[in-house]
Amino acid sequence: MFVHLLMTLTIFKMSVEVSYMVSNIRLIVGITGASGTVLGVRLLEELKKAKVETHVIVSPGAYEVAKYEMKDVRDVQGLVKSKSAQYYDEKDISSKIASGSYETDGMIIVPCSMKTLSSIACGYGNNLISRAADVCIRYKRKLVVVPRETPLNAIHLENMAKLSRMGVWIVPPNLSYYHNPETLEDMTDFMVGKMLDCFGIGHNLYKKWGQ
Ligand SMILES: Cc1cc2nc3c(=O)[nH]c(=O)nc-3n(C[C@H](O)[C@H](O)[C@H](O)COP(=O)(O)O)c2cc1C
Repeated sequence: MFVHLLMTLTIFKMSVEVSYMVSNIRLIVGITGASGTVLGVRLLEELKKAKVETHVIVSPGAYEVAKYEMKDVRDVQGLVKSKSAQYYDEKDISSKIASGSYETDGMIIVPCSMKTLSSIACGYGNNLISRAADVCIRYKRKLVVVPRETPLNAIHLENMAKLSRMGVWIVPPNLSYYHNPETLEDMTDFMVGKMLDCFGIGHNLYKKWGQ
């Protein structure tokens, strides 16, 4: 009786551990040259913690911006690679994530520049980021775009509205104060939490309203 109970508990514990270790979620993450490289990097950290399989593409523009915003990080590419299941060059247009036959649970572009936003809205597919986004739209997979620019002009707004009508989630990294952030990190975590919410990935980055 005691042995049976012990075995049941062990199997239960193992299944809990396994479900924690493998999330079965496969996401494409694009990081482009809008301000907020840290949002992309912080998201990758959380996705790694959540055992999400990430396929990551970083545009040359993003590395340019990172020079200004992540001065204390010597090797941004190394940092990104260490947090990705797989890393791709933006020009790697024949890679598996350029094809819809490679199944994923969707894609997030964070931060998303107005250039990349426009390329997706026009179906231009000029690099692996906009091509992979195009595939998500074609296959009705979840596409989350975190556009960053201010002020926005009518071209930007129209591109966002066009994508939104196609089912793309437009999640701008807007400031918020009701969760009483004390540091920039708190603000970043709040935004990253919102991005994880889009994919139903659990986190402790901010306290949800009513909890
Ligand atoms: C320091 C810095 C900050 C920038 N911030 C933004 C921004 O917030 N939003 C934006 O759309 N473009 C911004 N840009 C311009 C883009 O990096 C540029 O349009 C680039 O071509 C985008 O290419 P990509 O989308 O392929 O990364 C910034 C450029 C620099 C150097």
